Amino acid sequence: MPVRKWRGPVAQRSDIVVIGGGIIGLAVARRLCLAGLAVTVLEQRRTGRGASWAAAGMLAPYCEFDEPDPYFILCRTGLERYAGFIETLRDETGCPIEYNATGMIYPALSDRGLARLETRYERHRREGVPVERLTVREARRLEPDLSNRIRMALRYPADHQVENRDVVTALEKSVRLHGGVVREGVAARSIVLDGRRVAGVDTTDGLWNAPKVVIAMGCRSRYIDGVSPAHRIPVRPVRGQILALRAGAVPPFRHTIFTREVYLVPRSDGRLIVGATVEEAGFRDEVTLGGVLQLFRGALELAPGLASCPLESTWSGLRPVTRDGWPVLGAMGTPGLFAASGHGRNGILLAPLTGDLMAEAILHERVPPIMRPFLPDRFYPAGTGEAKDDSNR
Ligand code: GLY
Repeated sequence: MPVRKWRGPVAQRSDIVVIGGGIIGLAVARRLCLAGLAVTVLEQRRTGRGASWAAAGMLAPYCEFDEPDPYFILCRTGLERYAGFIETLRDETGCPIEYNATGMIYPALSDRGLARLETRYERHRREGVPVERLTVREARRLEPDLSNRIRMALRYPADHQVENRDVVTALEKSVRLHGGVVREGVAARSIVLDGRRVAGVDTTDGLWNAPKVVIAMGCRSRYIDGVSPAHRIPVRPVRGQILALRAGAVPPFRHTIFTREVYLVPRSDGRLIVGATVEEAGFRDEVTLGGVLQLFRGALELAPGLASCPLESTWSGLRPVTRDGWPVLGAMGTPGLFAASGHGRNGILLAPLTGDLMAEAILHERVPPIMRPFLPDRFYPAGTGEAKDDSNR
């Protein structure tokens, strides 16, 4: 890796700089602040206004996953910690955070969907996943606005959802309350090195001196200078378009309604979030006619009565997705440099757990076993250095 030594004036000094003020960066920063470190979060726009703001806040390892692989284990552990995390965050900050633990309903709308869900039900039951099989009548008794054309449904009572915008607002407040510095409108340009070690970050507002730096830049995580090409985080943007319907004083559903094509997430203020497309569109975070049409169609198929709901707003976000679809967590090849990125569809779900795991890696140089499959060095070409794993010491 080329050595870049900073020779300009020193602007600021922290124990650690977190690049990226999304939910992941903020969750990591909060844990480090709690440990007494001087933490600076650098956010090139406004904190939490990227993918974290665009998300729908589903906390749904059971609905979303097919295989009991390490990623499923990570997501399930993330969910297990969530309610406690929200309680703590509410207490710390006084911020209201909407949290809904009613569960999810996954209906089948066709013969093929029915067969798929039957198979899924049997497998999930064998694997101990909390799942219930509902007849059409049972599903419609729980959610009368579901289409009468559904064929059956699965209910995942342990899946939750959270108002993600409340979480990022509270997290930012928590970071500040615990002494962290959050700088908006400051873009990181390059990691600065002193010999082989990290020495800070060169930004549009001068140098931040810090012996440790976390890259938590979401889908832009590979675009920072000072990281050798072999060690760049292989993450790309995957667009999700979403819309919100104004469903009335209360939303028509208590559960989140989920299918592979579309999901309906009720909010307590009467909005119904309809998400989300999954599109390779580079960094184009537009809302398109085709995207909105897909969401409308999917929503009306699930609940024809939604046709009379006013459309309140549309937006889109860019999920950070890695080459293998799993997050990148932990020490990178350069001493002092860490990655927390690539959370794909599960950034909201995994933020608290990511904060905990990254704190272990950064403060104690430990890699908890659950984190090991997600280390950055799985992407490094052979012979280009490994991330440090001291977990066996
Ligand atoms: N977590 C759902 C999505 O990314 O659309």
